[in-house]
Amino acid sequence: MDSFEFNKIAGAVLGTLLFAMGLGIVADVIFKPKLPIVAGYDLPSAEAAPAKAAAAAPAAAVAPIAERLASADAKKGEAGAKACASCHAFEKGGANKIGPALYGVADRPKGSVAGFNYSAALKDRAAKGEKWDAASLDAFIANPKQYMPGTSMGYAGLADPARRADVVSYLQSLK
Ligand code: HEC
Repeated sequence: MDSFEFNKIAGAVLGTLLFAMGLGIVADVIFKPKLPIVAGYDLPSAEAAPAKAAAAAPAAAVAPIAERLASADAKKGEAGAKACASCHAFEKGGANKIGPALYGVADRPKGSVAGFNYSAALKDRAAKGEKWDAASLDAFIANPKQYMPGTSMGYAGLADPARRADVVSYLQSLK
């Protein structure tokens, strides 16, 4: 390889490097990033949270059970109670199943069915002398584990307040 050949190769390499550098500078000028005036990211502001809570509040406001019972339908409740029937007997003299027999449960002392092995949580309520009034039935059926942490009732809960009132109305009719 003579020196002329070498010069040509070196020139080509240098030229390529120069071109790449120039391209970088030109690109920087064209695509100049807009830097924020204040460094960092915008965090959700504190005002957003109460606004959300306020929006959720009307949905959470459920009419008291006494009010809902006035327009409840025990017949619809009987259909709704099908979801309970795998664990509970509703007929008079019905046997305990996975859960205690529920005939006459309304206004009955909690945890009072003979021969049923209640959870410690429910025995605790029984020891306090609590009864299954409409409000506690409503709250228990809405979310058993929330109303009574530690209960052995493996039922997720019935969220719809009107359908729950129907079920409570049905339970009250079992006497
Ligand atoms: C997967 C089974 C299961 C389902 C489904 C179920 N329960 Fe229960 N239920 C239980 C068990 C178990 C207990 C006992 C809970 C304890 O000892 O903590 C119980 C207890 C109760 C009690 C308390 C009774 C007492 O003597 O103190 C009521 C009331 C009740 N269930 C109502 C219902 C209703 C109404 C439904 C349907 C909406 C329902 N349950 C669905 C298993 C179930």
